[in-house]
Amino acid sequence: MGEPDKREVAVKYDALGGRIYDLRYSDEQGEKYDALLKTMTPGPDETVLDIGCGTGLLAERLESRIIGLDISAVLISTALSRLRGKGSSHLVLGDAETLPFRDSSSDQVYSVTLLQNIPDPLSALLEMKRVGRAKVGVTGLKKAFTKESFRLLLEEGSFSSFVILESSGLNDWMAFIDL
Ligand SMILES: C[S@@+](CC[C@H](N)C(=O)[O-])C[C@H]1O[C@@H](n2cnc3c(N)ncnc32)[C@H](O)[C@@H]1O
Repeated sequence: MGEPDKREVAVKYDALGGRIYDLRYSDEQGEKYDALLKTMTPGPDETVLDIGCGTGLLAERLESRIIGLDISAVLISTALSRLRGKGSSHLVLGDAETLPFRDSSSDQVYSVTLLQNIPDPLSALLEMKRVGRAKVGVTGLKKAFTKESFRLLLEEGSFSSFVILESSGLNDWMAFIDL
């Protein structure tokens, strides 16, 4: 895979559209959320960031205060419809490499199947580390990362500790990071 161009990535997801995204990927992504949420379940009073939130499929499952961020205006608008009326949820159009949030402003950070789209995935991980307070749950698409390259990427982030789950049957590696 060559290095992704962010503008092209946004155009690609905008062109796909939220309805088609959900039809194609909601089952696959749902299996990843099942695995993530078994290990990392935020409480209702916690603030959770979902970086690269797409159409809001993960946010819909959470009872916490949710902030979703994505670079695709079209997918964000689908997320907006999905989450309308759902407690405390906010959506932000933005870039994972320069998050518009204060340091340590969220209890937990999730990012599912985002990093393959980022020109410099380490910079996105370091942004998650900067804005998070307690834990990060992040996945890496197996088509883009071997388990070893995913581990090396996490090691470069100098987190206090992390584990990578055995995720056979899933298309992503899953990592849980302590901040
Ligand atoms: C494979 S989708 C995953 C979406 C969502 N996490 C899910 O589980 O359905 C990748 C998402 O990352 C978003 N994305 C790609 N590059 C991004 C960037 N630089 N900043 C923020 N979001 C980005 C895309 O627009 C898309 O919504």
